[in-house]
Amino acid sequence: MNYQEFYQNSLKHPEQFWSQQAQELEWFKSPKIILSKDKHDYFQWFEDGQLNLSYLCIDKHIKDGFGEQDAIIYDSPVTNAKKHISFNQLHFEVSKLAGGLQSLGLERGDTCIIYMPMIPQAIYAMLACVRIGVIHSVVFGGFAPHELAIRIDDCKPKAIITASNGIEIEKIIPYKPFVDEAITKAENKPEHVVVFDRQLGVEIPKKNYDIDYKSLVENSPSVDAVSVESIHPSYILYTSGTTGTPKGIIRDTGGYATALKFSMKYVYGVDEGDTFWAASDVGWVVGHSYIVYGPLLNRNTTILFEGKPIRTPDASTFWRVISEHNVKVMFTAPTAIRAIKKEDPTGHMIKRFDMSCLKYQFLAGERCDVATLNWTHEKLNVPVIDHWWQTESGWPMLANMVGVELQEVKPGSASFPVCGYDIKILNEAGEEVEASVEGYVAVKLPLPPGTLSNLWGNPKRFKSGYLERFPGYYFSGDGGYKDEDDYVFITGRVDDIINVAGHRLSTAEMEEIVASNKVVAECAVFGVHCEIKGQKPLGLIVLKSNVDSDNSQIQKEIIKDVRNEIGAVASFKDVLIVNRLPKTRSGKILRKLLRNIADERQYNIPSTIDDVAIINEIEAVYKINNIGIHKN
Ligand code: COA
Ligand code: AMP
Repeated sequence: MNYQEFYQNSLKHPEQFWSQQAQELEWFKSPKIILSKDKHDYFQWFEDGQLNLSYLCIDKHIKDGFGEQDAIIYDSPVTNAKKHISFNQLHFEVSKLAGGLQSLGLERGDTCIIYMPMIPQAIYAMLACVRIGVIHSVVFGGFAPHELAIRIDDCKPKAIITASNGIEIEKIIPYKPFVDEAITKAENKPEHVVVFDRQLGVEIPKKNYDIDYKSLVENSPSVDAVSVESIHPSYILYTSGTTGTPKGIIRDTGGYATALKFSMKYVYGVDEGDTFWAASDVGWVVGHSYIVYGPLLNRNTTILFEGKPIRTPDASTFWRVISEHNVKVMFTAPTAIRAIKKEDPTGHMIKRFDMSCLKYQFLAGERCDVATLNWTHEKLNVPVIDHWWQTESGWPMLANMVGVELQEVKPGSASFPVCGYDIKILNEAGEEVEASVEGYVAVKLPLPPGTLSNLWGNPKRFKSGYLERFPGYYFSGDGGYKDEDDYVFITGRVDDIINVAGHRLSTAEMEEIVASNKVVAECAVFGVHCEIKGQKPLGLIVLKSNVDSDNSQIQKEIIKDVRNEIGAVASFKDVLIVNRLPKTRSGKILRKLLRNIADERQYNIPSTIDDVAIINEIEAVYKINNIGIHKN
């Protein structure tokens, strides 16, 4: 099949195209209405269809005779555990947990937060929720209690499902005390906290709301999947916005299932029965779509990996997992490859393994630098596909659709729009720019199935954040350009969002925390280049006059504040004290200029700046503190 024809067809006849793709699923009630508008005047897919994600990910495959196929391979170098979980076993665990949640009073439309490490019970919990129409919201384990509390207050869960602990490189992270602290901070208290004890000797503080996960599953009946409307939210996933309040992306059910099933075949090029591995975390969108729902919908064996690309135990872990579990397609973030490359620059560890099973290596989550892409290609000797998407889209927007037609890879570009996405590069006025001119990356409405349906409890923010900037388009928040051959290059965010080790974080949120410290007169937090993590946050502070505390003490305290409020995942480790910050005459801090100086990029001193000497001062502070592109 030819990519251009297939793609153009998806844009010219979206309803026909997607209704045909929807037929790849087993619906309880097939949709007749394909594309319509909701009460907010926004698009929705398959309005009158009925289905269940848990049924499609489990029961259907058992019915088709694949009950004994591995659904999940759990590989945990941090605990030395490996477990093969068949669809039959998955059914047992999920249907009983779903029964348990029902016995606790959870019903269709209720919300439930899942705060779990990368263990099978995290997947069971997600599938158990959708089995009974409960809307889950998975919160990444690297977020601190304060962030968890914000999410509790926003989605008001009836229950939280958690575990005794997670494991990071050489350290145990207790989860239950974090949950207890978040509940104390939150105004809306959940009724139950279901706790899975990993039995690793971690003490679990007891509270009245606690329910033991194992007893709950043991004592509950198996329940069947309920039929939900296609537009029923399957989950809420919070992601960073440009303010301190995260945005709760709502995902539907039928559009999502259709899009994921489509993407497994046409974007990732995997067939049913193949093994697929997305080395991410269930707390991120990649985890939702390509550790859990995509592969399981497509009857692929999914790898659940509890570890890191390095130091668990070394930089060969990824290659061992690929070879041992016969992975056909793998997906990770460029940052993981950079970390491996740093430890094993010649790639000699790869040679220890038979990697002939691997057909494609996909990369996403952040901009992929050319050196990383080339190194990966040279060492793995398979097509390395950079592809672009976001929590909001739920599945790829730009990719080399290898399941349709493998196109020439152009390093630095995430290739072409995926079916259904009419991607345009616009200028400030909303007009399409010419080839090679950088602009705002927007997608003409309607978006294809599977993309965000709204923001939880905040339809106004949904409209103002995504739809009003360029009427008739969804605005991605990214900048980019198309070259003469229509390859799209994403150049980075045009807002206050940064990408640290593939994790999306808001510098505005960090700035709010830094600014709230009593000694800080003013501050700026922005992302600077990091050799391994792509970007890392840097804070500059101006102290109030007459502050007599020790500077290094102040710095430590501020770093601790950000870690306590947002979490370790923010990687906020650098804060510098300066005498003043460069501003425009109207008083706006020039964050981009500060970043460009740190990254040693070419910059022009804006004519509106009051005093150029300030730039020399900032440069001097960076120098003393070893901040700069070549120094981290
Ligand atoms: N629970 C609790 N803490 C967590 C956590 C979790 N699930 N995930 C990360 N953290 C903590 C880490 O322990 C670390 O804490 P520290 O400051 O005390 O050391 C901090 O958050 C930052 O973690 P991380 O970003 O993972 O950095 P690292 O230095 O530990 O490892 C890499 C660097 C590059 C190896 C790692 O970031 C990595 O594997 N990146 C790939 C991530 C990825 O796949 N992203 C894709 C999303 S699509
Ligand atoms: P998240 O919502 O956490 O998945 O982060 C989405 C953001 O990550 C996007 O808006 C981009 O800024 C960035 N991103 C993801 N994938 C890519 C990619 N392949 N190339 C460039 N940027 C990317």
